[in-house]
Amino acid sequence: MVMTSAEIRQKFLDFFASKGHHIVPSAPIVVKNDPTLLFTNAGMNQFKDYFLGNKPAPFKRIADTQKCLRVSGKHNDLEEVGVDTYHHTMFEMLGNWSFGDYFKEEAIDWSWELLTDGYKIPKDRLYATVFEGDPAEKLPASVIALKKWKEYLPDEQIVFGSKKDNFWEMGETGPCGPCSEIHVDCRTDEERALLPGHLLVNKDHPQVIEIWNNVFIQFNRLKDGSLVPLASTNVDTGMGFERLVRVLQGKQSNYDTDIFTGTIEATEKITRKKYHNTDAKEDVAFRVIADHIRAIAFTIADGQLPSNTGAGYVIRRILRRAVRYYYSYLNYSDPLIYQLLPVIAEQFRTVFPELIQQLDFISKVVKEEEDAFLRTLGKGLKKIDELFETTPAGGTLKGSSVFELYDTYGFPLDLTRLIAQERGFTVDEAGFNTEMQAQKDRSRAATQLDTEDWIWLAKDQSLPCSFIGYDLLETDASLLRYRKVKAKGKTSWQLVLDRTPFYAESGGQVGDTGWISFGDVNAVVTDTKKENDLIIHIIEELPESVTENVKAWVDAGRRKKIAVHHSATHLLHAALRKVLGTHVAQKGSMVGPGYLRFDFSHFAKMTDEEIADVEAMVNAEIRKNIPVVVRVLPKEEALALGAMALFGEKYGDMVRVVTIDPDYSVELCGGTHVGATGELGYFKITSEAATAAGVRRIEAVSGLAFESYLKEKEDLISEFRSKLKNPPDVLKALQNLQEENERLKKHADQLEARMLVGIRNELLQKDEIINGVTFIGDIVNVSNAEALRKLCNDLKNNLHDYVAVLCTNIGGKPSVAIGIADTVVQARQLDAGKMIKEIVAPLIKGGGGGQKNLATAGGQDISRLQEVIAEIRATLEK
Ligand code: ALA
Repeated sequence: MVMTSAEIRQKFLDFFASKGHHIVPSAPIVVKNDPTLLFTNAGMNQFKDYFLGNKPAPFKRIADTQKCLRVSGKHNDLEEVGVDTYHHTMFEMLGNWSFGDYFKEEAIDWSWELLTDGYKIPKDRLYATVFEGDPAEKLPASVIALKKWKEYLPDEQIVFGSKKDNFWEMGETGPCGPCSEIHVDCRTDEERALLPGHLLVNKDHPQVIEIWNNVFIQFNRLKDGSLVPLASTNVDTGMGFERLVRVLQGKQSNYDTDIFTGTIEATEKITRKKYHNTDAKEDVAFRVIADHIRAIAFTIADGQLPSNTGAGYVIRRILRRAVRYYYSYLNYSDPLIYQLLPVIAEQFRTVFPELIQQLDFISKVVKEEEDAFLRTLGKGLKKIDELFETTPAGGTLKGSSVFELYDTYGFPLDLTRLIAQERGFTVDEAGFNTEMQAQKDRSRAATQLDTEDWIWLAKDQSLPCSFIGYDLLETDASLLRYRKVKAKGKTSWQLVLDRTPFYAESGGQVGDTGWISFGDVNAVVTDTKKENDLIIHIIEELPESVTENVKAWVDAGRRKKIAVHHSATHLLHAALRKVLGTHVAQKGSMVGPGYLRFDFSHFAKMTDEEIADVEAMVNAEIRKNIPVVVRVLPKEEALALGAMALFGEKYGDMVRVVTIDPDYSVELCGGTHVGATGELGYFKITSEAATAAGVRRIEAVSGLAFESYLKEKEDLISEFRSKLKNPPDVLKALQNLQEENERLKKHADQLEARMLVGIRNELLQKDEIINGVTFIGDIVNVSNAEALRKLCNDLKNNLHDYVAVLCTNIGGKPSVAIGIADTVVQARQLDAGKMIKEIVAPLIKGGGGGQKNLATAGGQDISRLQEVIAEIRATLEK
């Protein structure tokens, strides 16, 4: 009986649970507090602090399945995806960990037991790799691993590997160690008889693939390249779930397992194309879609919307790659991915329920992105056509143009090359690559973060840093370590204390500011951030003498304003769900001293009435002066209380629950809050707008920030009243003013009409005949451009073959009108609009236009009006 993918996953977790492992949920796929990482790229990411000793591990043995994404940084497989049958953007990594507990022998024993006894993989198809050592790094060969594997495998199934394959590192810096991989040979018996499998291990053979890596984390790689032994020896393993399922389901490709066939079948139905036909490009397209949809759906579910920077841009690029493939190779030009989302949401209903819970929202975001990019692709095709028109037949498209197609219209080189070939053109690939490199260099320079290694003051490098800022705002503390950081040409210093009252930016709440004193020198803390779980105080200048004993205190006034806005955010969130519905989910939040910002899923603009209802509800809760109760509870208990958890947040087994009336607002939250809602005083929404597809953004103020807001409004009204000379009834005064204005306008219009008659009569006497045409050119005194036009029309009723150019000065700015009789337009091929554009506009430094018989212009330079008249006269004289 072939196991389903769900059964295979469960068997792994059950096996390690039976070996004393604590099973934890996957961490979010989007990484929040690690400057070296945008996305989780290995199961061990969420445990980085345990390896480094920044934080004690809550359990010595842990196992899980982790959502991973390898599309940026050290581990990047994007270009392989879809082209081959075993790389993915998003994949699940099954892992088991030991934090200073069991080591190599047990790890190898258990992996062997699970693969051969649990999953029944034939022993003669398995190969193990062992680290051969590296003299340059002074690393010995892994004798223990070798000895262990020899108990299970004949020598020809053990392969030695160099640092490249058998020393695993998380990134440029961080935890690392030698590793032992397990590969499976999935070739047919005939093929295996011809060539022994060990020759194909780590040789990119599509049927001889690595499925499991057992890493023995023993070192920390520092920025200077050195390896520092860790306090404990650890195990970190990762098994590629999709590959394991392929092996166990006896398939040649990951895409033929039940993990992907659902999506592929749905794609076949919609596009009316067939997977596994003879067209290689079409097959790649099917795989790209089946793969990319998972990366897109899971990252959006974890709160990362497609955007133009950072992690959001990576998602946008993955989505666009999928669109390009169905557009180019499946001949499908409507949004497709969003139609497939229900299939994967259903498939992952039990193990990753975040997809089904947010299906509407994710679909809306994805469809909008697809629509927008399909429009861009359409424009890009037009652009290519223009290029073909301006390039000599059979010529080469310029590198810069090909790059523009890539950068602005999302056309990768191969697509442009393909279209160019079809039309008989070639592409300047070297030129394209130069532009591409230049762009990469620019973006690297813009984001370069140069972080030096830590300088330690503490002798014990495993001392944790504890946050005491819920209760205290100042403390004596020890400085454990500090380091220098350079970003965008600016230097700052990062400090870690053993205990700190400073709240580090997280959960939307901004970091605290304040002071750290070294003896009698105070350093200003400009921000506090988290790096994984480490609390980092940022100062701009390092005092000359850095002492271990410091005093640290938070800017208490600022903290209070922040707490007010954090509690207000909870009240707002609850009110939105009551007024708009429970589909409202937090999609982002910023809690600062000056205001709060809250992004949430909702599909329509809020009406004035809804906004008023939400404000009224929050203010009613404020007036009740409800105590804000904070408790730490087991997660299950908290969720049973109905506590709102956020998608994409990582929660431990014990969670902090903030309750403001159990019937009103219960949220999991690590932020700082007021004691009771009365401290908020009043709550006011200052704006409501769209920020992305399906996401609305509210900005609001409360507490002292509301007072400032109110004061601003009052000042505005006072100024307004005083401008109106402080009348007893300001609205009546305004109305009087408006009525008077209307009356005066009417009167002025009548006067001007009378005046225009006079001006016209004068103009009619100033006519001159040039080449048989009546020419009138003059500077007249009127108050607006409309009057000039009117004069030109009036002349028409009094003259036959004429050209008139009338200028005026409107508040220091020139305005010009040219009127030409239709007979003259025809007989002399004259065009007033053209004259205005070509002669008048440049002279008066302005612009304008109109018809052949009447056109006007406005400008900046009032000194050239005589020249305007002379130039028009000259055209008639020609
Ligand atoms: N951390 C190891 C990997 O990602 C297991 O391959």
